[in-house]
Amino acid sequence: MSLPVTAKVPFGGDYNPEQWPEDVWKQDYRLFDTARIDLVTIGVFDWALCQPAEDVYDFALLDRIVERAAAEGRGICLATGTGAHPPWLAKAYPEVTRTDFEGRRHRFGQRHNSCPSSPVFRRLSVELARRIAGRYGHNPAVIAWHVGNEYGGACYCELCAAGFRDWLRHRYGTLDHLNAAWYTSFWSHTFTHWDQIEPPSALTEHWRGPDHTAFQGITLDYLRFTSDAMLTNFHDEKTAIRESSPDLPVTTNFMGLYRPVDYHRWAAHLDFASWDNYPPNDESAARMALTHDLMRGLKDGQPFWLMEQSPGVTSCRDVNPLKRPGLMRLWSWQAVAHGADAVLFFQLRAARGASEKYHGAVIGHAGRSDTRVFREVAQLGVELDRLGPVSLGARTPARVALLFDWDSWWALDISDGPSRLVRYQEVVLAYHRALWDAGVDLDVVAVTQDLTRYDVVVAPALHMLKGDLPQRLEAVAARGGSVLTTYLSGRVDENDRAFQMDVPGPLGQLLGVRVDEWDARGPEAVNPVRLGAGPDQLDVEARLLFELVIAQGAAVVGTYQADFYAGTPAVTRNAFGAGDGWYVAAGLDQAGVSWVVRQVLDRHDVLGPYPDITDLESAVRVAPDGTRLLFLLNHRAEPVEVTAPSSGVDLLTGHRTTTGAALPLPAYGVVVLREDE
Ligand code: GLA
Ligand code: ZN
Repeated sequence: MSLPVTAKVPFGGDYNPEQWPEDVWKQDYRLFDTARIDLVTIGVFDWALCQPAEDVYDFALLDRIVERAAAEGRGICLATGTGAHPPWLAKAYPEVTRTDFEGRRHRFGQRHNSCPSSPVFRRLSVELARRIAGRYGHNPAVIAWHVGNEYGGACYCELCAAGFRDWLRHRYGTLDHLNAAWYTSFWSHTFTHWDQIEPPSALTEHWRGPDHTAFQGITLDYLRFTSDAMLTNFHDEKTAIRESSPDLPVTTNFMGLYRPVDYHRWAAHLDFASWDNYPPNDESAARMALTHDLMRGLKDGQPFWLMEQSPGVTSCRDVNPLKRPGLMRLWSWQAVAHGADAVLFFQLRAARGASEKYHGAVIGHAGRSDTRVFREVAQLGVELDRLGPVSLGARTPARVALLFDWDSWWALDISDGPSRLVRYQEVVLAYHRALWDAGVDLDVVAVTQDLTRYDVVVAPALHMLKGDLPQRLEAVAARGGSVLTTYLSGRVDENDRAFQMDVPGPLGQLLGVRVDEWDARGPEAVNPVRLGAGPDQLDVEARLLFELVIAQGAAVVGTYQADFYAGTPAVTRNAFGAGDGWYVAAGLDQAGVSWVVRQVLDRHDVLGPYPDITDLESAVRVAPDGTRLLFLLNHRAEPVEVTAPSSGVDLLTGHRTTTGAALPLPAYGVVVLREDE
C-alpha cells in the first residue's frame, strides 16, 4: 500500500473544531471554500474527548466533526488521538507516565508523554485506535490514518528497563555476545545476569547529560531500543486499524532531522511518510531541501506528505519570527519540488488558549479572510488547483546519493573524542549545502539503500560501517562512480568498537589512505588548506578536526599549510576501478567543501541548470506518465533573470517558454515548468 488516493495535491491541515462552538464551524468551512482547502486532519489530541473515563467511550462530538467534514466534501486525514493521554489514565495507572533521564517519575502533564513500554498504555491506545478505525474507516471522506503524533523523547522507567533487557536478549542471544559488543571488560562491567543491566541515564552510565556516556555501546542500544519501542506502539495501532480498515494508508508525522528516532528503522512500517516542517530561520532553504529529500528517501523515492507547516509564525520558540510575504508559498512549492504530494498546515484555525494560542493559523482568532496570511494561503490554493494531478506520484531522477545514518549520528554525538565540536548534522549539512548549491537532484538515503543507481555517493562523517556497505561503496567506484567521504569515517563497527586496523578501516582500499593520528582544536584555531593546483587552486581554512593522513596510493588534492604537518595531505583522491574514492581529512570551511564537491561532480553530468547562481534552486520530478516537471525556486529577496533551460509551460502562469529565452523570477519567485516532450 502506498499514498492516499487523491485527485490533486491535498491542501489543508490540522483542524481542531472541538475547541470552539459549532456555530463557528460553518464560518470555518466557508473560509476553507475561499482558500480551496480540501483536506482536514482531525482528532490528533482527542483521547480525553473520546474516552472520558476508562469504561466510557463517547464519540458524539467527533461524529459531528467527521460528518460535517464529509458533508462539506473534504477529505479527512483521521488521527487515532493517542499523541497525548488523558488525566484519568495517568491518575489510575501511574505507569503510563514517563520517567526522565534523571530518574524522576513524571505525573500527568503536557503531551507525547506516555511510556512506550507500559502495558496499560499499549492496551488502551490500541483500543482507541481500533474503535476509531471501526467507527469511521468506512466513511468515504476518510482517506488516510494519522497514528499518534510526532513520536519522540525517551523513558527510563522500570518497564522500559525490562523492555530493554528483552530487546537485548533478542539482539544478542547470550550475555557473552552482549559483553563482547559492549566491550564490558573495560571498567569492570562484565554482566553475569540480564537483570544487572540498567538503562543508561544520569543515574547510571551518563555524566553531564544524554551525550556523555561511559559506554557508547550501551547508550547506542538504548537509543535503538527506544526508537523500536515507539515503533511497536505505532505498529500496534496500525494493526488495530487494519482490522476494520484494510485499504487505507497509515502514516505518522515525522520531524525531519530529529535525532531521537531512527526513521530508517521505521520506514518500512509506514504506508507513506509524512513530516512537519518548522525551519529554524529564514536561511533554511538548503536544510529544508535536505530534509524533504531525507523524508522522500525513507520509502525509496515514494512521494511524502508535508503534514504540517506554519502559515506564519510558530509559538514554541523564545523568539518566533514571521515568515516574510511569499516565503510560505515558496517553501510550499519547495516541498512539492522535492516530492511532497500534500501541502498541509498546522493549523487551520487558531486555538484560543494554552501554549499555541499565538501559533500561526490559516484563520486567526477574528475569523477574517482579509488578512495577509489568509490571502497568501488562498492564492496557494488557486495555484495547487491549477497544478492539478500532474505531480502526484512523480519521482526525482537522482543520480547522486547523500548517505544519512542515525547510528553514525548517535555514535558521533555521544563519542568521547576526538571533539565535541564536530557534530554529525553540521558535517552533513555542509556537504549537502555544496550539492544543493550545484543544483544536483539528489536522494538522501540510508546506508542500506541499493547504491547501484547512483554515479556519485557522498557520505560525510560515515563514522560507523555496517554490513556490506564498504563493498557496496567500492562497487560504486569500481564501475566508474565517485565516492566522497570525510574525517571520522570508517572508525567503528555497529557496536561502536574501533576496527582493529588502520583508519579508515574497511574503507582503506577504496580511499587509498591511512590516517595516522588526529588533532582537534577549538573554533579559533585555523589551519589553512591549499586545494588543487594551477588555475583551479584555492586557499581555504580548516577548523575543529585535522586528521594526519599518509597517502597509500591516493593522489594528494589538498595539503595543510601550517603546523608540524604542513605539506601533508588534507584532501585526497584515489583511483579505484573505473572511478574514484575521495577523502577529506579536515574540517574545511564551506568554500573548501564546495570546491571538493564540485571537483567530484564535474566528472559526472549531474549539475543543475544554474550551478553558479546562489540560492536559485532547481529540482526535477518525473511523473508516472513520463511528464517532466522542472521546479525553479528563487530563494533570494531580489528578482533574478535566467535563460530557460528547456521549453515548456509554467503551470502557475500558463506562460510558454522556449529553451534559451529570458526567464524572469521575482523575489521568492517560483516556476513550475512542464517540459515539452
Ligand atoms: C507540532 C505538532 C503540532 C503543533 C505544532 C506547532 O508539529 O505536531 O501539534 O504543536 O508542532 O508548531
Ligand atoms: Zn517507560
